[in-house]
Amino acid sequence: MNEFQGKRIVLGVTGGVAAYKAAELARLLIKAGAEVDVVLTTAGAQFVGVATFQALTGRRVWQALWDERMDNGMAHIDLTRGAAALLVAPATADFLAKLAHGLADDLLSTLCLARNCPLLVAPAMNRQMWENPATQRNVAQLRADGVSILGPAHGEQACGETGAGRMLEASELFDDLYASMQAKPLAGKRVLLTAGPTFEALDPVRGLTNSSSGKMGFSLARACVEAGAEVTLIAGPVALPTPRGVRRVDVQSALQMREAVMQALPGQSVFIGVAAVADYRPRQAAAHKIKKGPDSLALELEANPDILAEVAARPDAPFCVGFAAESRDLAAYAEGKRVAKKLGLVVGNLVQDGLGGDTNAVTLFDAAGAHVLPPADKSEVARGIVAHIASLMEKRHGQH
Ligand code: C5P
Repeated sequence: MNEFQGKRIVLGVTGGVAAYKAAELARLLIKAGAEVDVVLTTAGAQFVGVATFQALTGRRVWQALWDERMDNGMAHIDLTRGAAALLVAPATADFLAKLAHGLADDLLSTLCLARNCPLLVAPAMNRQMWENPATQRNVAQLRADGVSILGPAHGEQACGETGAGRMLEASELFDDLYASMQAKPLAGKRVLLTAGPTFEALDPVRGLTNSSSGKMGFSLARACVEAGAEVTLIAGPVALPTPRGVRRVDVQSALQMREAVMQALPGQSVFIGVAAVADYRPRQAAAHKIKKGPDSLALELEANPDILAEVAARPDAPFCVGFAAESRDLAAYAEGKRVAKKLGLVVGNLVQDGLGGDTNAVTLFDAAGAHVLPPADKSEVARGIVAHIASLMEKRHGQH
């Protein structure tokens, strides 16, 4: 993935135990194509050494206001010129206090004051330091000044206490930083999605399911958050982490999924049915484990409701998007589905190209025709789909 290709990030590291996570973050950013300039405070250097960041970023680390590498002696100004963002992670209580008051007595605080790029901070401190009214006042001031506050998380702390103040994990900071840099065509919109397989119980330990991994739906949920939407994800049984900023409801069966969708539906602007919902469920789930018996066993199945068709048929239906995973004749089936279910958009793919894997090749079918997206990683494909949904909604808005 090349999420940060061509972007330069200035990563400020102040003196907290969480500085070790900043090393991992630097690695993730470099892997995603970024150039990373690390600015280490004197206290930060007590926790992670210059050599570590230098090796990870392939660049010299910045520490002093008077660094001789800048011919004009203006490192405190020039480092953020042309940078995509300045992220301070970890940001200690002391550093937040300095920022809130505009103090500038070392390279990092001076850079923050003289920056011309977005500033994000990831607080990291003991829970009492975080809850202290002085810190809360400083954070409120920073928010009012347009600084993005990432986290902190709630959990176990290095001091042995538990509470709010832990720095976010490197991968979470990576996602938040990426999201902060994206256009927000879905700002103010609410998006509801289904994802993953369903599990239709046969008895207390067995059931009917399918090989949907949930990756496409989860990637789409994340792409919707990046695009500024408020996102609810109804997930069948999958072992995937919840994307940052997504409200997740876990369900098992198609009936439970339908119930959860109907409950979350009011006020949604978009509904995306990505789940591979079982078309049929056992007419009756046995109360006890079915025992081995005769040579053959017949199962009686009954049809599940079509959640997407039901949502799209409502008079107050949001903009509805469906998926068509086919093993052949993709265009005919996908376009047929779009018309039959009255959908604004159908995302079609051949199962051999997508189901269960990390990449996907899809074609988008809307009222204007078919649009092929280049085959890519599922997160990249998801971003392409979301951009298309946003443009269709924009058009629809223009017509009303
Ligand atoms: O008709 P087909 O099952 O192929 O349609 C697939 C689309 O409909 C997907 O978007 C899927 O999430 C949705 N669907 C649904 N409820 C069902 C079956 C499919 O929401 N019972």
